[in-house]
Amino acid sequence: MKVTVVGAGAVGATCADNIARKELAEELVLLDIREGFAEGKAIDMMQTAALLEFDTKIKGVTNDYAATAGSEVVVVTSGLPRKPGMTREELIGVNAGIVKSVTENILKHSPNTIIIVVSNPMDTMNYLTLKSSGLPKNRVIGMGGALDSARFKYYLSLELGCSPADLNAVVIGGHGDTTMIPLINHATWNSIPVTQFLSKEQQDKVVADTMVGGATLTKLIGTSAWYAPGAGTAFMVESILRDQKKLISCGVALEGEYGQTDISLVVPVILGKNGWEKIIDFKLTEAEQAAFNKSADAVRNMNDVLKTL
Ligand code: LAC
Repeated sequence: MKVTVVGAGAVGATCADNIARKELAEELVLLDIREGFAEGKAIDMMQTAALLEFDTKIKGVTNDYAATAGSEVVVVTSGLPRKPGMTREELIGVNAGIVKSVTENILKHSPNTIIIVVSNPMDTMNYLTLKSSGLPKNRVIGMGGALDSARFKYYLSLELGCSPADLNAVVIGGHGDTTMIPLINHATWNSIPVTQFLSKEQQDKVVADTMVGGATLTKLIGTSAWYAPGAGTAFMVESILRDQKKLISCGVALEGEYGQTDISLVVPVILGKNGWEKIIDFKLTEAEQAAFNKSADAVRNMNDVLKTL
């Protein structure tokens, strides 16, 4: 198995670190546009191999796409991260050009790969990759739901005083501060609805904190977060390479599912060796479907900006 991570910034490097520690691939290529940057991070990670006992071979390259040839999965993290006070959407102009050219270069050497898009604004960057790559829709997957669902579980665990790993909770919609929809009414603590334990105020707080989870960290750290985004991406890579068929919220092309077409939005899908293999239809309440439609409108407006670039 071979995986490429494009962008050796904090998210890309953390994703690579997680992939290596779990030995999800024999070969891992880390590529960055900055001279020597990916090489340095790859060597640093390889020097942990003796300590962490993994056999994945990590190779860092500067813009050498030939080295990525034959990758089963390519993770695209390229582009600018957000700064405090910035929305993910404000990155569209600069990141669209970057993501498009990265995709072109990747496909020259791995024409049938599975692409996981992490770059922001994720829903629009994933839509752009779907349109510009010509890959079958199942092979283009946006990261966001895995991360946002993990953040949702974190905030739920604080209110419940429980282990985040004991929770089942899903975020759908978009990967934006106002477009994501944490499905609190469907969240459970080992199959018991969390709404049974939390007051309406607590529920509203968890939902609100989850929605601005990324922005909160950007404000604290001074740039976009990386531990959970990197781990969320590696979680998806694992389900694909090990053909685990996990049910994970991901950004995918909708063609009528959830009442939407010609758009990429986050919904629960089965992830396996063929990419996303099936969209799972959640029975949404009227209010949840209305929120989903509203997110779709916002993401569609953002996608329209691509036409003006
Ligand atoms: C975040 C970025 C990865 O939510 O979008 O932290």
